[in-house]
Amino acid sequence: MSLTVDPGTLITEDWRLHGSVYTDPEIFAAERERIFGKCWLYVAHESEVREPGDYKTTFAGTQPVIVARGSDDGEVRVLINRCRHRGATVCQDEKGSANFFRCAYHGWTYRNNGDLRGITYDDAYTTLDRSKLGLVRLPRVDSYAGFIFASFAEEGPSLDEYLGHAKRYLDIIARQGPEGIRLSAGAHNLTYEGNWKLQVENTIDNYHFGFVHRSFMEVLAERIGQAPPIMKKILHDPTWRTIDLGNGHAVHEFGDPETGNNQGQLGDLPFNLIVFPNLCFVGAQLRHVLPKRANKTVVRLYPIMHEGESDEQNAAILRTHEGFYGPAGMGGPDDIEIAFDRVTDGMEATEDDWLVLSRGLERERRAEDGTIVGHAADEVPQRAFYRGWLAAMGAEVNR
Ligand code: FES
Repeated sequence: MSLTVDPGTLITEDWRLHGSVYTDPEIFAAERERIFGKCWLYVAHESEVREPGDYKTTFAGTQPVIVARGSDDGEVRVLINRCRHRGATVCQDEKGSANFFRCAYHGWTYRNNGDLRGITYDDAYTTLDRSKLGLVRLPRVDSYAGFIFASFAEEGPSLDEYLGHAKRYLDIIARQGPEGIRLSAGAHNLTYEGNWKLQVENTIDNYHFGFVHRSFMEVLAERIGQAPPIMKKILHDPTWRTIDLGNGHAVHEFGDPETGNNQGQLGDLPFNLIVFPNLCFVGAQLRHVLPKRANKTVVRLYPIMHEGESDEQNAAILRTHEGFYGPAGMGGPDDIEIAFDRVTDGMEATEDDWLVLSRGLERERRAEDGTIVGHAADEVPQRAFYRGWLAAMGAEVNR
């Protein structure tokens, strides 16, 4: 679709961002087409569809899909969850195992490879070509380190090229448990009335930590009997750094990405990571950000379980995750209130409608491998994301 505004004009050369990128339905419609219609999109982890017949329902960007491992051939396909008759979703369960999906509206049935298997009372259709009425398959599906991605684009960079420097971090996540990882604990969902990009930006924003999460810091100080080291680390430890990984991906390392930790009892990933456009890792969770409208977002949080560790050790991961990110947790609800709801409320004001994303711009530096490195609380990751956003939206990236 054509946009009445040039997306390149929405971010200035000195990194001010126009507020309409969070609020304008026309920009959201363009994102659906240019970003979610073309990029590689995370859909599942292999542990969720391990056996033939296993499936999971989710969204490829904004579109409902079923990730299904074929009963007959074991191949993972990503099928649009929309009946070819009159459009109802054909599967509602979050996950399961099935050889067929039957639409509840008029009973059309599909094999789990997407082929149309049967039409109820089909003597009334004389000219339908049933071979063309299977569930629509996304043309490209690939995986890296157990993370399954799909794309609506027939052509484009391979997943390997697309992930680029982010691959190293996905490899490390895949090795968190002695025998790998699994997403067997399911997800808990949160919904907020605000734009999807707010959650992605917030995932990798250290600047907010001492403010939004002050009450958590106070409780933590009481528990450990001293000021939590996390703020000192964020502000003064040179091994804590932010990196623009290219293609819209970014990381915040807590020291060495193989061995570091966040010193804050938030979970044990040694970094926060965003994979453009809507996959995040933080604490001990995979976070899948699902845009619904310009001002509505659903987020699915999947605690990462460790293969080869005991039930007790995995239960401890869940308790830590719940303690900060759960509905009554010490951190997640504060982010929803302040980083999403209050920002969305503030966006109602449209005088001088520009935000500032330039923190640390003068001190970031380009490394030999082409990545851009900055201090831990600088807005390097936010600029990384918006470089990816500009490129995907078809604008020149000259900043
Ligand atoms: Fe699915 Fe009619 S909408 S069978």
